[in-house]
Amino acid sequence: MQRVTIAEIYQKTSDFNEKTITVAGWVRTARTFSAVGFIELNDGSCFGSLQVVLEKDSLADFDRVAACHVGAALCVTGVLKCTPQARQPFELQAVSVSVEGASTPDYPLQKKRHSVEFLRSVGHLRARTNLFGAAFRIRSEAAFAIHSFFHDRGFYYVHTPIITVSDCEGAGEMFRVTTLDPTSENAPYADFSTDFFEKPAFLTVSGQLEGEMMAQCLGKIYTFGPTFRAEKSYTQRHAAEFWMIEPEMAFADLADDRALAEDLVRFVVRHCLTVCEADLAFLDKRVSPGLLERLRACESTSFAHMSYTQAIDELKKNNANFQYPAFWGCDLQTEHERYLSETVCRRPVFVTDYPKEIKAFYMRLNDDEKTVAAMDCLVPGIGELIGGSQREERLPYLLRRMEECSLSQQEYSRYLDLRRYGSTRHAGFGLGFERLIMYLTGIANIRDVLPFPRTTGSAD
Ligand code: 4AD
Ligand code: MG
Repeated sequence: MQRVTIAEIYQKTSDFNEKTITVAGWVRTARTFSAVGFIELNDGSCFGSLQVVLEKDSLADFDRVAACHVGAALCVTGVLKCTPQARQPFELQAVSVSVEGASTPDYPLQKKRHSVEFLRSVGHLRARTNLFGAAFRIRSEAAFAIHSFFHDRGFYYVHTPIITVSDCEGAGEMFRVTTLDPTSENAPYADFSTDFFEKPAFLTVSGQLEGEMMAQCLGKIYTFGPTFRAEKSYTQRHAAEFWMIEPEMAFADLADDRALAEDLVRFVVRHCLTVCEADLAFLDKRVSPGLLERLRACESTSFAHMSYTQAIDELKKNNANFQYPAFWGCDLQTEHERYLSETVCRRPVFVTDYPKEIKAFYMRLNDDEKTVAAMDCLVPGIGELIGGSQREERLPYLLRRMEECSLSQQEYSRYLDLRRYGSTRHAGFGLGFERLIMYLTGIANIRDVLPFPRTTGSAD
C-alpha cells in the first residue's frame, strides 16, 4: 500500500498541501455529529496526530466510519488542507475510508491520561499512548545515534555470545542455561557433563571479556546487545534483561576511556534534541519538568571529574542526611551517586580510581596498590549510567587478583592467554541503554523504557 506517514506530513507539509494522499493509523479519539465527524488518527510515526474530517455529503459510508470505536485501524484517502488558523496545522478531508480492523467499546485506552501502572498491565497496547510512543521512538533514535557515533569513529560492531560459560563480573548473578530437567528425580545431583554444552552455561551479564578479545584483534570495537542479571532487585533502575553498549579500545588508558564515554553521551543527547523535538517537549511538560534544560546543559557543558577519594570527602560532609553514611572503602549507594551529580556537581560526573575490593577483578591496579583504574559516570536523576575501566593487561597482576577473588584460571584461560600474546594497554566501558533512555526521557522507572520489561518477579 502506498501510504504517507504522519511524520512525513509534519516534515514536508507544503509538499502535501491540497494533494490527495493515503494515511493509515489507529483512532485516538472520535467525535461525530449527524453530518460531520472528526477523527484523531495516530500512526506511531511521530508524536503528532492527524485530524481526519468526515463529511456525510462527500463520504459514501459516513455512518459506518462515524460509528468506529477508539482503537480501530483505518486507512484514509483524502485531501490534505493546511489550516494555519486552527489548533492543528493541517487536516485531512476524507474521500474514502476503509476500516482495516474494527475496535470495541472495551478498548483499554479510553482516557486521555492513564497511570503508568495501569498502562504496564496493557503492555501490548501501551506504545499507542503519547508517553510510551515518545519513549520508544527516542529509544530507537538513541540506538541509531550510538551506532553512527561508533561507525564514524572507526569502531567495529561485534556480536558477543549470549550464552556464556564464564562470569564476566565475577558476581555470580547469572541465569543458568540448561536442558537438564529440574523436576526430574536426579536433579539435585545434576551432572553438567550430561548437559547440552557438557558443562555449566549461563546467560551473559556482559560481553566485555569477548569484547576485549576482539579489541585485541580489530583495535576498536563495540557491542550493543542484551545482557541478563539474576540479581534480586526491586529498584526502579534494575532490570533482569537489559541492553548494554560496550566499547573496548586497544592502546587506550582510562583518560581515553573517559573522553570516549563523555563524547558518546553528549552525541546521543544532541541527536535526540535535534530529531525528537516533539516527543521531548511532551516529556518536559508532562513527565519531567526541566528535562530539556538538563539535556541542553549536558550537551553543551563538559562533565565533572573527581576521584573516589575526593567523592568520599564530599559525601562525608553530608553523612547526616544519608541512609547509609559514606566512608572510604564503601560501595557508593544510589543516594550517594545522585548527591554527587545533582548537588555537588550539578551535572554528569565521572568518579574514578575506586578501591579494588569493591570493583571487578579485571580492572587495572593503580600504583598505590589500593585502588584500580575504574570509572563510573553518574548522572542527575539516575546515578550510575556507565561503569568502565582500564583493564589489567599484566599477567602476574591479573593472576594475583583472580586468586584473591577465588576465580578459576581454567574458566578464564582464554582471557588469560590474551595477556601472553601481544597484550596491550586497553580500556572500555558498559553503558546501560535503559538508564540512558531514562536520562533522555526523564522517565523514572526502568520498566517504562523497556518495551517488554523483565524484572524480579515479573515477565509478561
Ligand atoms: O557496571 P557494570 O556492571 O559493568 C559491566 O558490566 C562491565 N563489564 C562493563 C564494561 O566495562 N564493559 O554495568 C554497566 C552498566 C551500568 O553502569 C548500568 O548502567 C547498567 O550497565 N546496568 C544495568 N541496567 C539495568 N539493569 C541492571 N540490572 C543493570 N546492571 C547494570
Ligand atoms: Mg557498575
